[in-house]
Amino acid sequence: MKKFIVGFFLTAFLLSAKAQNQNEANYDETKVPSYTLPAVLKTANNTQVTNKNRWEKVRRPEILQLFEENIYGQMPKRYSSLKHSVTKKDATAMNGRATMKHVLLEVFNNGKSVKINLVLFVPNNTKKPVPAFLLINNRGTDNTDPTRVKKSEFWPPEMLIDSGFAIAAIHVADLAPDDKVKYVDGVLQLYPDQINADDGMKAIGAWAWGASRVMDYFEKDKDIDSKKVAIVGHSRGGKASLWAAAEDQRFALCITNCSGNTGAALARRQFGERINRINTSFPHWFNNNYKKYNNNENALPVDQHMLISLIAPRPVYATNASKDLWADPTGTFLSLKNAEKVYSLYGIKSNLPATPPGINKPVIQSHLAYHNREGDHDLMEYDWNNFIKFANYHYKKSK
Ligand code: GCU
Repeated sequence: MKKFIVGFFLTAFLLSAKAQNQNEANYDETKVPSYTLPAVLKTANNTQVTNKNRWEKVRRPEILQLFEENIYGQMPKRYSSLKHSVTKKDATAMNGRATMKHVLLEVFNNGKSVKINLVLFVPNNTKKPVPAFLLINNRGTDNTDPTRVKKSEFWPPEMLIDSGFAIAAIHVADLAPDDKVKYVDGVLQLYPDQINADDGMKAIGAWAWGASRVMDYFEKDKDIDSKKVAIVGHSRGGKASLWAAAEDQRFALCITNCSGNTGAALARRQFGERINRINTSFPHWFNNNYKKYNNNENALPVDQHMLISLIAPRPVYATNASKDLWADPTGTFLSLKNAEKVYSLYGIKSNLPATPPGINKPVIQSHLAYHNREGDHDLMEYDWNNFIKFANYHYKKSK
């Protein structure tokens, strides 16, 4: 009983502390400070980038390095080996519409290994290989139930299968537990040098690294068209989906749902969640250097429009929910808008309007796509339905 009461008060305290922080945040557009974004197309030695060659050879690598050093940490490029085994298979899943595979990926480095549980559904009556969506799951594993006894809008494989896509999911806990102490018990064991380095990767980097290992596997799975893989994440998972697509150019599409601060939203607007808050609540997400920017957004050599720019010319879909001001819907839209000039280097014009579209007015047929769904911070059928349209639009066009 005593334990229960202590637990109750602790939970109430933590919830109210969180609410208080969210209440203290600025949600007033007129109080957004004036700011100047770092120039995405100006190199470190101050020359203007005017073509995609200079972008790819000079400016893109510079920006990637700035994100590694100041925010997400180094992304290890090598590992010793990767083993995969299909531990469960059901060729009659979803009343025969799909084949379910549970694939265990084991990645070895430095005498240690990490096990990644991949749940995968592939449509049965569709010509192979098929395009796929991969979700970085930051919620409970019951959201990605391979038996389909439990179903949730967060990951609706039936919907994807019926649209001719494969759909997969991994769970963040396999890569780095989402905990300020235990986050080291995963990928970081394979790269111990990163643990105490100020620019070492932490949890978000480890989750993105894991998505790339799934891509290594997809390249070997004959059912999957590895040239057509969309990486998807919600919220903290959406921060990781952006980082995965920035680091790994094999992802054809990037979808970042309600990713907010240090995801798709501009930091300098200081609207909703801020760097100081995210680094205090979640010190295990970003590298140590990032703490230098607590209450000091303008000192950052990058802003989040530059993260989106790293994904160019590949299509990016960012979303928000109307009641989720913590994740700054307007700042997310502006981030996409400010990445447009990089897409222009490839002759790509986005179809985004000049100002944020209304609630439930998605802009899907665009390399920089956006919607602000009515409702709360979540990943829902409405969102997935639009992601399917987005993928269909881009894949049909490039055929
Ligand atoms: C918190 C955090 C956000 C994050 C969100 C989530 O609200 O402040 O940055 O996106 O959790 O992952 O749901």
